[in-house]
Amino acid sequence: MNALTRSLSTYWQSSIGKKIVVALTGLLLVLFLAGHLTGNLLIFVGEKAFNEYAELLHSMGHGMGVWVARIVLLVTVGLHIWATIALTRQNRAARQPYQYQATIQASRSSRWMIMSGLTILAFVIFHILHYTVRVDSDLAKLGETNPHAMVVLGFKNVFVSLFYIIAMTMLCSHLSHGVASIFQTLGLRSKKAKSLIHKISWGYSIAIWVGFVSIPVAIMLGLVK
Ligand code: HEM
Repeated sequence: MNALTRSLSTYWQSSIGKKIVVALTGLLLVLFLAGHLTGNLLIFVGEKAFNEYAELLHSMGHGMGVWVARIVLLVTVGLHIWATIALTRQNRAARQPYQYQATIQASRSSRWMIMSGLTILAFVIFHILHYTVRVDSDLAKLGETNPHAMVVLGFKNVFVSLFYIIAMTMLCSHLSHGVASIFQTLGLRSKKAKSLIHKISWGYSIAIWVGFVSIPVAIMLGLVK
């Protein structure tokens, strides 16, 4: 084992090392969401703008760009989950037989983060099968030529739209706690900045919720055709 692997392994074994992995991967996912939402909102600009954006994503770097982004995303999500599981196990092992109110509160909140995180994971698997793999043959036919029409057809199914809205609500809740935790782990949450960070986390989470939810809602209301 060389010095670098040794120090990386010591770092990983410490609880702060894992927290930093969760925070940095979380930050990348937060940035991905902002980018994905910005692109998706082109649906309100029109069919041409949305389809040109989808075409650009798929043709970046002669078609390699989208695969590089997929691999980075997959590794990021994998590390985020892996570090969270390791951290939860470590915290459980270290728990004292007697518990204070604060410990009970913290474990309730981390249990909720695990629940909402697992819902988001289930949603992402469904979402990839829905719009990327396109297991529905009607969506698959449209997906190749007209991604805009594919998204519109997908959200015309009320159950699909409702599932997206529920998942987005869980995502909003996960983000409201997660974004604040990123600041805390990276040592940016001073007493003075606490209220600002609270506003940023909630503001960002609500903006993500409104942005994503507006798409199925607009389609169900017939505002986007
Ligand atoms: C109304 C909400 C959303 C819409 C309309 C939407 C739309 C799309 C579309 C059309 C694709 C397929 C891209 C392609 O392959 O051509 C896609 C892929 C994807 N979306 Fe979304 N998305 C939404 C919400 C989300 C959310 C909330 C997340 C994350 C929590 C997410 C994560 C992903 C991922 C990981 C991919 C796969 C990228 C790939 O490998 O191609 N999406 N989305």
